[in-house]
Amino acid sequence: MNRTQADSGQEGSAGSGEKMDPELKQTVDSIRDYWDARTLGVQYVSDPTLERGTPEYFDHIRPWMNPYKFPWIMERIESESALLKGRHLLEIGCGMGFDSLEFLKRGVRVTATDLTPAAVATTKRHFEIEGVEAEDVREANALELPFEDESFDAVWANGVLHATGDTARAIREVRRVLRPGGRAIISHFYRKPSWMYTVSRLGRENIEHKDEDPPVNEFYTDPEILEMFEGFEIESAVREHHRALPVAKSGIKAVLYRWGFRPVYNLLPESVARRYAYKLSVTAVKPKDSGT
Ligand SMILES: C[S@@+](CC[C@H](N)C(=O)[O-])C[C@H]1O[C@@H](n2cnc3c(N)ncnc32)[C@H](O)[C@@H]1O
Repeated sequence: MNRTQADSGQEGSAGSGEKMDPELKQTVDSIRDYWDARTLGVQYVSDPTLERGTPEYFDHIRPWMNPYKFPWIMERIESESALLKGRHLLEIGCGMGFDSLEFLKRGVRVTATDLTPAAVATTKRHFEIEGVEAEDVREANALELPFEDESFDAVWANGVLHATGDTARAIREVRRVLRPGGRAIISHFYRKPSWMYTVSRLGRENIEHKDEDPPVNEFYTDPEILEMFEGFEIESAVREHHRALPVAKSGIKAVLYRWGFRPVYNLLPESVARRYAYKLSVTAVKPKDSGT
């Protein structure tokens, strides 16, 4: 029995008992198929001779991943690790495991999970190469987490919950598996109105992968997101990614974006541009005196 199961006092599945209807199940299956073929990070490998799962492979991808590309994510990992050292964090949707790795390096106990077998296998290999040991690395669906109530001191999900098919339910699951006083650190949700929402809708552009977007990638207003945190105390809700990013695409729309929209938009003062940031990161605490 691994430590997660021991902690929760139960082997295998737990869950809220909330049923998934057939339509939601089908959506989750299509999301699994999509991400299983496209673990976040593979799109940055252009050299076909670079073998998946080698140290060189992870070295090549690392600079493109959130904590290394966006300093505020690494700062968040650092400040949370200082609070959570020796405590047990669940990562939902770990992808290749870069975020979990940074928590592990800072002394946080981590259970890393993802919906897809490919992500789980890649994360296991990644941890092996880095010489770190997680409590567990396993498949788990955010909508029916296979953990007992009140199993974790913190839950981290980075770019995941808005892509699960039922964001509100995923947040209810986060709350369920948190101990009273536990921290939900959700970096990030996609927000609207935002420059990314407008550009992707007007240009019908894929956001995640060039060939195709995931079956679900919801954008919400800030009040819609915060409303989903019922039963939590919101510690912070921060708008991020307010500057328009460079793109590596070609074609007329890319030219218009590169030479028209982006330079003009990026001249806006920060106070204005931040209103149209495309991500909202929320840190929320399950109150100490709350029930499950
Ligand atoms: C945009 S990627 C982010 C990966 C990782 N957090 C990162 O930042 O590198 C979204 C991830 O969410 C996972 N995911 C999607 N739906 C999920 C669900 N219902 N339960 C758990 N993970 C899910 C996908 O498999 C994918 O790995």
